[in-house]
Amino acid sequence: MQSIYILVGTLLACHGLYLFIKRRIRARNLPPKYWTIDPFMNFDWIFSTALNANMQLTLFRKYGHTYRLSKLTDPMATIITCHPENAYTILVGQDWGVEFRKAGMGQMLGSGFICTDGSEWKRSRKMIRPAFNRPNIDNFDVLEGVADKIIADIQTSDGKVEMGSLMYNALMHSSMQFILGLDSTGSNDGRPMDVQTFNKLWQEGLLGMGIRLLLGEGFSRTFLPKARYQDVCNRIHGFIDFAIDEREKKGLDSTKKTKTMAEIVTPQAKDRADARSQLAQTMLASQDTTGVLTCNVIHILSSHPNVWAQLRKEVSSAGPELLTWEGLRSNTTIQNILFETLRLRPVFPQTGRFAVRDTVLPSGGGPNHDQPLPVPAGTFAISNSWGVHVSKEIYGPDADEWKPSRWNKFKPGSKEFLAFGAGPRSCLGKDKALAEAAYLLARLVKRFESLESRTPEWKPDASFSMKNKKGYRITFKV
Ligand code: HEM
Repeated sequence: MQSIYILVGTLLACHGLYLFIKRRIRARNLPPKYWTIDPFMNFDWIFSTALNANMQLTLFRKYGHTYRLSKLTDPMATIITCHPENAYTILVGQDWGVEFRKAGMGQMLGSGFICTDGSEWKRSRKMIRPAFNRPNIDNFDVLEGVADKIIADIQTSDGKVEMGSLMYNALMHSSMQFILGLDSTGSNDGRPMDVQTFNKLWQEGLLGMGIRLLLGEGFSRTFLPKARYQDVCNRIHGFIDFAIDEREKKGLDSTKKTKTMAEIVTPQAKDRADARSQLAQTMLASQDTTGVLTCNVIHILSSHPNVWAQLRKEVSSAGPELLTWEGLRSNTTIQNILFETLRLRPVFPQTGRFAVRDTVLPSGGGPNHDQPLPVPAGTFAISNSWGVHVSKEIYGPDADEWKPSRWNKFKPGSKEFLAFGAGPRSCLGKDKALAEAAYLLARLVKRFESLESRTPEWKPDASFSMKNKKGYRITFKV
């Protein structure tokens, strides 16, 4: 009997040793490992790289262009990469999907282009696409009012403002108009709540959604309180439904030069919930993007007074045609400033995807981590565009410096500049956002002689879009 125990024990020990050696051999061909404190969800990595976004770059300096996180039973649960080929492949490849987002997002945002793959995503994207056609976005009527309001608010506060909240609130007006077709200043038209209340609920909803995305569906359903979140989602839905009802009541005005997204989406949608989802998901995609880009530009310019002065000279001597679509898009000084800022401070520094089938990334495997890397289905991968943007191999030895003039000569390839994503899922709002940021910048430069930041340090927080943790306290001088 005793010898049977010894035999079974020996067999188990041999099997354990075999698994250990097999894992060690496999690990030799995997990218370097970042050891997380939490081996179940890797929360310590998630929180520290979101709240102190600079850490994203620090870790690439330490581990190289591609590294991994492991979980208890999975030695490569997550891949994080800024290798341009890898970062691009993850964004454009058919083997990578986003449907994992639906579990956390669905209750608030339904099912739309942000959280679907394949034919469902194609249908959603096709539905919203006409809203971004040039005739529909080449219109600064609403933005003119937004810029007037921002400038007036700066003047009434003696030039001292918190640019982040000022920009966010002002741009919420144009976004509301573009997506829902609601004039955010009107409050007596029967809408369920005013825009400020909606805005507060939207923020609360986003927080609830973020927590659910992070914790996963099962955990959230079991442990998180449900009633309040459900109520917030219902009220947000009610507000968007009001916009859809208004659109249906008014019908389509064929003489209008532009159409709102509600006007474009509603007739094509399968039903009410479908229309609502596409509108809500566009609100999320556009949330805090143009505003954050413009704030980052202003913040950087506050420490480059010579560039502000040069731009002011140019803008002041230009005729009214500068403030048109063509005028702004063909002004190289403004465009260079926007692109250089998006390079060093991308609004979304990283994007996650799930491998929907076994696949291969171009680099990161082999003993020197420069061979193709086989990736099993179910692996999570993070494409870090920020790391690509500061690569000295691509942008030269001065890659860390903010130098708008580099864009006079440098024309990046599709894998080298990823601020708006890449491939079939790339940003539909790119032209609109660039034109709007250029317009706001030109108006501010024209009005104010100089500016100074009272929060000059750049401490990025990337919990959603990447912005300065200390805010954007700016003093403008006439
Ligand atoms: C500076 C401003 C902006 C930046 C940096 C930006 C960035 C991005 C990025 C990186 C993606 C790709 C996401 C992915 O690969 O999963 C994306 C997609 C998208 N963005 Fe933007 N965005 C901006 C402004 C906007 C605005 C203002 C709108 C709408 C009004 C918008 C609508 C969209 C849409 C519809 C998609 C397509 C998603 C898909 O097909 O899956 N974006 N954006």
